[in-house]
Amino acid sequence: MEFYHLVNKRYSVRGYLSKSIEEEKINYILKVARLAPSAANRQPWKIYIIKDKNLKNKLCEAYPRSWLNEAPIIVVFVGLTDNNWIRNDGKDYLLCDVTIIADYFILAATEVGLGTCYIAAFDEKKVIEALNLPPNEIPLLMTPLGYPKENSIKERKRKEIGEFVVEI
Ligand SMILES: Cc1cc2nc3c(=O)[nH]c(=O)nc-3n(C[C@H](O)[C@H](O)[C@H](O)COP(=O)(O)O)c2cc1C
Repeated sequence: MEFYHLVNKRYSVRGYLSKSIEEEKINYILKVARLAPSAANRQPWKIYIIKDKNLKNKLCEAYPRSWLNEAPIIVVFVGLTDNNWIRNDGKDYLLCDVTIIADYFILAATEVGLGTCYIAAFDEKKVIEALNLPPNEIPLLMTPLGYPKENSIKERKRKEIGEFVVEI
């Protein structure tokens, strides 16, 4: 798939079918995500793939939206705080690294016809409790993963290129 077409195909899916996801698709998405670059190649991440209904319910308590639980899988992108690259001036690149792997994951999911939605506005403590995460693992992003409902709303509001590009 042409890259522009792939990027244009992705949107925040907020309505899912209960249809289960083929294991080959998940394997393909993970094969792509594995290639994500990271600062100093630290790869300071974990990806939790949650299929268990009880755990999904708990995650939905951290971000109470009905559409999150409609998807057969919820994915949580976790940063490892004991292996993150920090610049000399103290700038922490963990969020940047985890965002990149999440992007790779989400675009690969889009390519194979699956819907996703970046979610950051969750209750961090509740996610930590639900997944029983150790102190060195912080959840930074999550997404539902599933087949989109046909009537999902597609928004496409973006700044014009001239509004965010500075050519000097
Ligand atoms: C880092 C990040 C965090 C986001 N968090 C949420 C969220 O908590 N809940 C939500 O419904 N959408 C969330 N979104 C989705 C954005 O609202 C959405 O990407 C944006 O409005 C553009 O729409 P589009 O994804 O359909 O192109 C998030 C997106 C990003 C990139």
